[in-house]
Formats: sequence, structure tokens, C-alpha cells
Amino acid sequence: IRGLDETLRAVGPGDIHLPRRARDSYKGDYGKVYILGGSVGYSGAPVFVARAAVRTGAGLVSLGVPAPLWPIAAAKLDEAMAHPLPSGKEGMLSLEATEETLRRLDTCDVCLIGPGLGRGNGVASVVRHILRSTHLPVVLDADGINALEGHIDVLDARGGSFTVLTPHDGEFVRIGGDLSGGDRLAAARSFAAEHGCALVLKGHRTIAAFPDGTAYINTTGNPGMAKGGSGDVLGGIIISLLGQGLTAREAIPMAVCLHGMAGDLCARELGEYGMTPSDMIERLPLVMKTFE
Ligand code: APR
Ligand code: MG
Repeated sequence: IRGLDETLRAVGPGDIHLPRRARDSYKGDYGKVYILGGSVGYSGAPVFVARAAVRTGAGLVSLGVPAPLWPIAAAKLDEAMAHPLPSGKEGMLSLEATEETLRRLDTCDVCLIGPGLGRGNGVASVVRHILRSTHLPVVLDADGINALEGHIDVLDARGGSFTVLTPHDGEFVRIGGDLSGGDRLAAARSFAAEHGCALVLKGHRTIAAFPDGTAYINTTGNPGMAKGGSGDVLGGIIISLLGQGLTAREAIPMAVCLHGMAGDLCARELGEYGMTPSDMIERLPLVMKTFE
């Protein structure tokens, strides 16, 4: 990897350092994480996030989905607690979902907003209202990122509250990321610095950039992960590690690396064609076990 220096690090399995779980610890020590996602037709995305969080050690995982989706999400999840939120047009969240979500966030440590929410104006308003109102660290993915299109000021205004964005290229460009020069690293760095957030630019060799200019390039993963749902798995790992008390700078590069390692284990066992995001989630415990 070219351009490695003190502000740029390649991340691999040797960089994984998981905190030991104290003998006398309890679930409260491992984070209450909240996931907001889903719409009719996209019931899988938030479920992937929740399952990945559960499988990577989170203490308590809650999930808010539009009401019509709730029986599906609840039936798919045992360990995570799903609850229904007010919904309207096309089975997407309605504005009334905002207050209830904020109330629930009051009792949580970190949240992830976006997967499968859909692209309605109402949904985007809900997302932006929550971003303006909560002081929790927020991970924004997928339609959570799309909600910032034309409203990037909402991100800038978060001030001391930390925000992590996990776009793929399309989402990154939609909110003003500049990939025209072909330099993904420079683009990720300048976005993170300009907006004071952590920016995880996903793809082959995912880049994680921080506001102070430091950046990480992941070395794990494979094209068997280029399938719908893989990104949701990463989001679940990130909030899980944040909830367990790792700093963003520890949690994010490790999450990206573990995610790729789970993908690589799937590729070895199942092959790149047939492996699925669910297979990756099932293997996350085995990957983490090697570092316990
Ligand atoms: N090598 C390594 N990793 C890869 C590769 C590759 N060739 N291809 C994809 N990945 C990894 C990426 O690094 C990322 O972590 O798989 C994940 C893909 O994430 P997303 O692009 O977010 O894809 P997906 O999970 O399908 O997103 C679901 O949400 O983002 C929206 O609209 C989008 O429909 C999509 C949905
Ligand atoms: Mg995605």
C-alpha cells in the first residue's frame, strides 16, 4: 500500500486488541445500542445490523422499525428487542416516530440510523430531527446518510456529539464527497476534516478517516462480500464495539477488519459465490474468539 506514513496505517488481524471481559461484569458494561431502520420491502437490513451487534458482544440491542414490519423483525430476532414505531406512506417511518425514538435513545449509549429506512421526505426529516436533538454518538448508514443530501449543515452542527458515517461511493458522492479525482483516501480525509466526523468509505480496501487527518486502510475482505446486506453487518459491528466502550478510533478500524475477516472465513469455507451476509454474522464469533 503506497503512501503509508504516521498519519496512515494499514489495518490487519495484528491490529485487533479486544478488551477482556471482566469476570464480574454484567450486560450494562457492554453497551445499550439502538438501531433505527427498515421500511416495508426492506425488513432485512436492520435485522442484519442487530444480529451483527449481538454476535460481537453488545450488552443489550434494541431495534425500532416501522409498525408494519415489526412482526417480521421481532420474529427474526431473539436476543435483540424489536419494537414498532409510527409509520405512514409506503410503510416508512412517519414524523410521529421522532419523539418515541428520542425517548428511547435517552436510555442508550450509542445508535445506528439508516439501513432500509427508505428515501421519503418524512423519513429524512425524522433522521435530521434526531441528529439535531440527541447527544449520543450516532452511526449513520445508508438512508441515514441519504437524509443529509442538501442538509450537510445538520452534520456540521452536531458539534461535540460524535458522528460516524459509513457510505459506499454512491452515498458518499450524494452528500458532497468528491471522488472525481480518483483519490479515495484524500476524499475521505478531507470530508472527515471538513465535517468533524469519522468517515468510513466502504468498498475494496475500506478507508476510515478521522477529523485530525489520520486514516486507516483495511486489508481484509473479498469480493464475496459484494452482496446486499454486507454493509449492514459492518454497521452492527461498529455500534457493538462503540457500545462496549472502545473509542471511535479503536472501534472503527477493528470493526472493519473483523468484518473482512468474517468475509474471508466465509470465502474459505463456502466460496465467494455462495457466501451470504448471514454466513458472515454466524462466523463473527469464531473470528473474535481467536482474539479473546
Ligand atoms: N472487497 C472487500 N470488501 C467488499 C467488496 C470487495 N470487493 N465489495 C464489498 N465489500 C464490502 C464493503 O467494504 C462494505 O463493507 O461489503 C460491504 C458493502 O456495503 P454496502 O455497499 O453498504 O452494501 P449493502 O450492504 O448491500 O447496502 C445495502 O443499503 O447502502 C444502501 O442502497 C444501499 O441497497 C444498499 C443497501
Ligand atoms: Mg449499505
